[in-house]
Amino acid sequence: MCGIFAYLNFCVPCQRQNVYEILLRGLERLEYRGYDSAGIAVDYPEEGVHIVRKQGKVKMLRGIVFDIEKAEYSSIVSTHVGIAHTRWATHGEPSERNSHPQSSGEDNSFMVVHNGIITNFKDIKQFLEKENYTFTSDTDTEVIPKLTHYIYHHTEEGETLTFPEVVERVISQLEGAFALVFKSTVFPKQIVAVKRGSPLLVGIKSERDISMDKVNISYRQRQSSGDDRAFNEGGQSAEYFFASDASALIEHTDRVIYLEDDDITSIVDGSLRINRLQKHAKTDETASRQITTLRLQLQQIMKGNYSTFMEKEIHEQPESILNTMRGRIDFSTDTVRLGGLISHASAIKRCRRIIVIASGTSYNSGVATRQLLEELSDVPVVIELGSDFLDRLCPVFRDDVCIFISQSGETADTLNALRYCKSRGALLVGITNTVGSAISRETDCGIHINAGPEIGVASTKAYTSQIVSMVMLSVMIGSDRISKQKRCTEIVQGLKELPDLIRRVLKKDHEILSLAKELYDEKSLLLMGRGYNYATCLEGALKVKEVSYMHSEGILSGELKHGPLALVDENMPCVIVVVKDNTYTKCHNALQQVKARQGRPITICEEGDSDVQSMSYRSFSLPSSVDCLMNILAVIPLQLLSFHLATLKGLDVDCPRNLAKSVTTE
Ligand code: G6P
Repeated sequence: MCGIFAYLNFCVPCQRQNVYEILLRGLERLEYRGYDSAGIAVDYPEEGVHIVRKQGKVKMLRGIVFDIEKAEYSSIVSTHVGIAHTRWATHGEPSERNSHPQSSGEDNSFMVVHNGIITNFKDIKQFLEKENYTFTSDTDTEVIPKLTHYIYHHTEEGETLTFPEVVERVISQLEGAFALVFKSTVFPKQIVAVKRGSPLLVGIKSERDISMDKVNISYRQRQSSGDDRAFNEGGQSAEYFFASDASALIEHTDRVIYLEDDDITSIVDGSLRINRLQKHAKTDETASRQITTLRLQLQQIMKGNYSTFMEKEIHEQPESILNTMRGRIDFSTDTVRLGGLISHASAIKRCRRIIVIASGTSYNSGVATRQLLEELSDVPVVIELGSDFLDRLCPVFRDDVCIFISQSGETADTLNALRYCKSRGALLVGITNTVGSAISRETDCGIHINAGPEIGVASTKAYTSQIVSMVMLSVMIGSDRISKQKRCTEIVQGLKELPDLIRRVLKKDHEILSLAKELYDEKSLLLMGRGYNYATCLEGALKVKEVSYMHSEGILSGELKHGPLALVDENMPCVIVVVKDNTYTKCHNALQQVKARQGRPITICEEGDSDVQSMSYRSFSLPSSVDCLMNILAVIPLQLLSFHLATLKGLDVDCPRNLAKSVTTE
């Protein structure tokens, strides 16, 4: 939630309008993280800084940003600092005054953009109010620039603090989760960024020193030791970009540093330095931050021939699941090799219990694969929502394996559960789509799902790749046992055919469009299934809710008689998934029950199942696959349905109201 973007060009002449453009484009790339208001702050002659903030999406901000003197618009700036933000409101409604950058006061001597939540902001606010600071927003963020101002003006006698030192003192007072970028008129041409719990990267574009592969960290700004190595020491021309996510950087540079919690990153006189809070001095294992090369391609974050990211990502699934399997399955021997788990494979196979923890769609992928994981591991598998797991302070033991599934790798509920499990000594496995994310870094081992960047807020291709990853993990666990080998071979063969089968399902998009045309005026939609396809219904209902705002419920059809049947009548559209696995007869019964209540069942069944088709009001048929993979095929018509329902209603499917793609606060 919330996207941060900042740009500093050092001795790289650039028209002022380009600075605005770079900042706005950065925000547009990050808009999926939040889009209820946006703002930027750039240097400006005379008054020092030009702040523009606007309620609404980045295009609203774009509409008013260039409203400046023509001469200034085209003037050249050689060294310049600009910060920008797109917001997903937590404290204070979406409005101009609650937008970021937030400021220290009328003179704007310190400005801050913030992602996350400051949990002790009330105490700090009270303190600052006593010191005569006046607050103009309802945000938790506003305490930060004001505290920065206070600290800067309250030093010991004779003491002068540098910009990073001021920020170090500020963050020592903050509790909660944050990524922050500071800009100041007191420290012109400098920028300081810091993170704790929320993601932040710095991208570097420079002709010199680019071969350098790391930046050493140091603990005290003034006592830098001989091996303290800054990037671009001596200040040659360079450009720096700060962003919440790599997708906003890739069009400028592929050289990035993923910042760690409590890294205080500053650019002063053109050189980049990373200082750490002193409290980490004894425990830090590595004294440097790697400059890594992004593998992301620009075209991966463009819409291509599609009008929305959601549609593009749904149609990418034959390739994205192939990428999930690439290099991990040997189809000639039917074996699975998961490089990221090898060193912990025997511990995983010996465990007494598996706990899968996730949120939202990622949770549904855990539900989708639980049955197979139980079957192939022969240990109990528990699926937990991150938030609920922590509320209950669930008992966790050293011989538990805890699997954290998260597309972004930064969801606060999942991450907090991870830290809780870590403190109890369990083995931690991460399944994420984001290299360098907090979850991938803080787990002992894991699987990167390799689905490629997912930009649409409603998760689609990540879901199917998460299922494939969990299936591969289950096969890896089961394949040592002779009794499970036949089953493992059957699944691997099924995985091989899957991309082609998905292509066949996608080709029938027009059938789903015509169904959507019938349904888009409905108030509510029920989805029923069981076994492997209970998750399909949960996920289908979630998609429908997220993007079309239609009420929708995923129901375990075994529970139908225990309540939901009361909702069924001739007016209530019901989707029923009936495939030929061990639940077929029971799902068939559910179908009959719906028919008996004059319902008009819309079934998702297997090709050639004329029995189910003849009982259906409308039917969509899927090619057959192995039972545990049918849920990958069955969810696709539901993803398409949600997409078409929303599009027919004229809604923005990529940025549904009130939602953000990654939720980094509890
Ligand atoms: C948010 C998003 C959901 C997503 C969930 C978990 O709620 O709106 O689409 O499924 O977070 O995100 P994760 O990145 O952990 O998979």
